[in-house]
Amino acid sequence: MGRIIIFTGKGGVGKTSVAAAHAIASADEGKKTLLASADMAHNLGDIFETEVGRHIKKVRENLFLLELDPDMLMKEEFPNVNKAITSLMGSSGAALGKDGNNFMIPGFENLFSLMKIKDIYESGEYDRIIVDCAPTGETLSLLKLPELLTWYMEKFFPVGKVMVRVLAPVSKVKYKVTLPTHQAMNEIEEMHGQMVLLQELLKNPEVCSVRLVCVPEKMVVEETKRNYMYLSLYDYQVDGVFINRILPEDTGSEFMNRWRDIQKKYIDELERVFVDVPVTKIPWYSKEVRGKEAIERLARDVLKTPNLFKINVQREKETYDVIDGGYCLSIRLPGAEADKVNVTVHDMDVDIKVNNYNRCIPLPNTLRGARVTDVYFQEDILRICLKVEERM
Ligand SMILES: Nc1ncnc2c1ncn2[C@@H]1O[C@H](COP(=O)(O)OP(=O)(O)OP(=O)(O)O)[C@@H](O)[C@H]1O
Ligand SMILES: [Mg+2]
Repeated sequence: MGRIIIFTGKGGVGKTSVAAAHAIASADEGKKTLLASADMAHNLGDIFETEVGRHIKKVRENLFLLELDPDMLMKEEFPNVNKAITSLMGSSGAALGKDGNNFMIPGFENLFSLMKIKDIYESGEYDRIIVDCAPTGETLSLLKLPELLTWYMEKFFPVGKVMVRVLAPVSKVKYKVTLPTHQAMNEIEEMHGQMVLLQELLKNPEVCSVRLVCVPEKMVVEETKRNYMYLSLYDYQVDGVFINRILPEDTGSEFMNRWRDIQKKYIDELERVFVDVPVTKIPWYSKEVRGKEAIERLARDVLKTPNLFKINVQREKETYDVIDGGYCLSIRLPGAEADKVNVTVHDMDVDIKVNNYNRCIPLPNTLRGARVTDVYFQEDILRICLKVEERM
């Protein structure tokens, strides 16, 4: 089975450098590796000091580079998905733009990069696909897209399991939805299937994991912790944290030694937060990480562990347990503050909102119409107790 590793973190912390070093370490193990950039501000070319484009380029034995171009992918490789989106736009006024082409979900076009990664994975051509992503916010928006779109399609159109779920007669009045034509429906149905498969792939911890890159500074540490929590909310597996730019023990300067002490404080904090996740420390080099030699050095210094690509499932998925009088839905949300989490149930979904991020989880049939009887945290696990009223 192939492997996909996604790198993300705050802007400028070293995501591309660490992703590139992983790609070199992987290729050196004799595994055919693709390093793909899903950051629109591509810079694999800079770092490898070569031209990289929209087509896969071999740069050394077992190592290939690709800069994903969502616009080109949309037009040339996924025209049907594009058509489906246009149908969605024409039919629903609720979530979709009516201004011609723009789907009102920011960064929506990047979905095509994910779809391309799925196609490359399924081709079986590469043993490992390493994805260098944009900074945190953009990547989170990207990673929640497949689920969000599936949810919209199920909510507003009679696709997939929605045959049973959608309230067709009600929908027009309630959601101001006009159902699309038969042919458009097929396209939407097809896209729905693709989104479900995409989610299955990206959320399968045996295949795909996310690695976080950070530096030991307050703002970055705070963002890294939140990122971990949001990724858990969306059910992604985080299996590595890389603390970059660590100063040496004795810098020889009082000024820098003070900074090193500050760094230590944040390194300790990160190690406390990520107790279950392997944490790797990367020194601050006196030169930029640029060119193959610099990346090789980074790979050699910190990534030469036999377990670097080992699949290490850290946690169970969302679970439902039977409790007295109902069910309990458990979701791991490391570091979440209880008073920032808001849980509501709307007939068919549990809606979990943490700060500005929310996730709607469709309820299984038996829990349709359930009400929340209790919400609490047990360590890092959010427990939502649900009860279905007895029907007479
Ligand atoms: N350990 C390190 N020591 C010295 N320089 C480093 C180190 N890690 C990264 N750099 C340098 O820091 C800069 C940013 O690194 P990089 O491009 O990998 O970050 P990024 O997180 O991908 O940035 P962006 O958010 O812009 O994509 C680069 O100039 C890189 O050479
Ligand atoms: Mg980068």
